[in-house]
Amino acid sequence: MKAQLIEIQNYFTWELANITSLEALKELETDLLGKAWKLNWILKGLKDLAPDDKKEIWLLANELKNFILDSNAKKAQEIEENMYKIIEEKEKIDVTLQFDSKNKWHLHPISLTSKILEDIFISLWFKVEDGPQIEKEEFNFDKLNIPDNHPARDVWDTFWITDEINKQKASGEKVLLRTHTSPVQVRTMLSQELPIKIIVPGRVFRYEQEDARHTSNFYQLEGLVVGEWVTFGDLKWTLDTVMKKLLWDSTQLRFRPSIFPFTEPSAEIDVSCQICGGKWDGCKMCSGTGWVELLGAGMVHPKVLEGCGIDPNKYSGFAFGMWIDRIAAQRYSVSSSRMFYQNKLKLNEQF
Ligand code: PHE
Repeated sequence: MKAQLIEIQNYFTWELANITSLEALKELETDLLGKAWKLNWILKGLKDLAPDDKKEIWLLANELKNFILDSNAKKAQEIEENMYKIIEEKEKIDVTLQFDSKNKWHLHPISLTSKILEDIFISLWFKVEDGPQIEKEEFNFDKLNIPDNHPARDVWDTFWITDEINKQKASGEKVLLRTHTSPVQVRTMLSQELPIKIIVPGRVFRYEQEDARHTSNFYQLEGLVVGEWVTFGDLKWTLDTVMKKLLWDSTQLRFRPSIFPFTEPSAEIDVSCQICGGKWDGCKMCSGTGWVELLGAGMVHPKVLEGCGIDPNKYSGFAFGMWIDRIAAQRYSVSSSRMFYQNKLKLNEQF
């Protein structure tokens, strides 16, 4: 029996040396110590031995058992440490390595356009303001002269926040995803001293069918100037200067009469299409007309000024809202602003 024990020990030592995984280690242990297996089988034979031999073999067997358990625990630790070493080796990062410059960080074309626009406006002494994307109905609509049930609300297809809290709220107090950056006009007029000269770049949302020019989530840049003697001429000069700096010196602006409840008079402003130059009937950006609508603008409606505590007989203002996505598409000759949201590295990497 002693010989058998030694045989088991040798077998164990030999097997252990070749083991490299925790699973194989567990298997070896079960093989030797498990109920139906080798060491157990020897212990079962003890009953046929003389008492002294019984004791000796029993002690030896126990020793072997402990040896196996101890060695296994050590081996398990070794295997684990080794595993971590391999992982460490595999996932090592060499921070001194050179890398392909294409993989460097870069701004998304919309952020880039927004930053360039901000710089141009800052050079004209505009201040940059911010506002919340989840906005009160009052600021997004009512205070902009678009009361409840006003048909113009349909122009801004709205994502309403429809939770239980909103359902119980009075009109005006309800919240929505802002459909334009114009509510920040109201916020600024209510909280700041005159004169005001601000821009508000930001994200807006519309419940809208998507096509080359429309996405349900896009970026606008709002502008607001309020003070004494602010005129439509100032608006024209400002937009003309900004667009020429941003696009090309030859960029043309076209003012078309339009209607917005919060401006009077109002205009929609197009720029000459930089993608096809008006020479391609199939151009998705300008639909072959040669003009792309980039802005809405006008003189701030007296009712809006009044609603924000500003005397319309003493002060006047102009406001505009531009579509940053479309401006980016024009600037970089990308034929559809929807492409900016498709996460195409091939496109984004070029900036
Ligand atoms: N808020 C308008 C829109 O989203 C744009 C606009 C802003 C028009 C300011 C006039 C003045 O359509």
